[in-house]
Amino acid sequence: MTASTKIAVFASGSGSNFQAIQEAIDRGELHAKVELVVTDKPGAFVVTRAENFGIPVLALNPKEFVSKAAYETAIIEALHKYNVKWIVLAGYMRLISDVLLAAYPQRIVNIHPSLLPAFPGKDAIGQAMNHGVKLTGVTVHFVDEGMDTGPIIAQVAVPVIEGNREATEAEIHKQEHLLYTKALQQLLQ
Ligand code: GRF
Repeated sequence: MTASTKIAVFASGSGSNFQAIQEAIDRGELHAKVELVVTDKPGAFVVTRAENFGIPVLALNPKEFVSKAAYETAIIEALHKYNVKWIVLAGYMRLISDVLLAAYPQRIVNIHPSLLPAFPGKDAIGQAMNHGVKLTGVTVHFVDEGMDTGPIIAQVAVPVIEGNREATEAEIHKQEHLLYTKALQQLLQ
């Protein structure tokens, strides 16, 4: 990989992981360039964050496409236009289909707030707390067609603070931001 690998970040929500990635790039700790932020939620806060950094946003409503394949094909066209080499999912709340997977084989990564394979899917932090586990964490993994099932790249454990979801969540997000930038730097080198 070159010094500055071109990436796209996909997000559906707040975009704090996107922001952490961009800040790591600005500090020179991550040798990448976010060419495009892709969102399926045009009103998501990640759009504001991207605009603040002057990064182009592709906001497409999947419902406006005849099929998931057509939706992903439109995304791929934009990714090719920006010469994007890697896709970084950061709170993107959709399964990736074989159309995108075929266009970016072994080049799509995701971050998930649990120690996978435990607690895949939605609200992983709530799932962990409801199960009463003492230790949860964060996982960075390659994306396949399953829900949070691809090969694991990096993990960090985070203790559950019993009865305090807010504090547990804050620590998980802090660790996510550190782990994702570190894992990406190793992957993209
Ligand atoms: C993170 O917890 C990430 O692990 C999960 O979705 C959340 C996104 O948070 N996939 P943010 O939008 O980056 O703040």
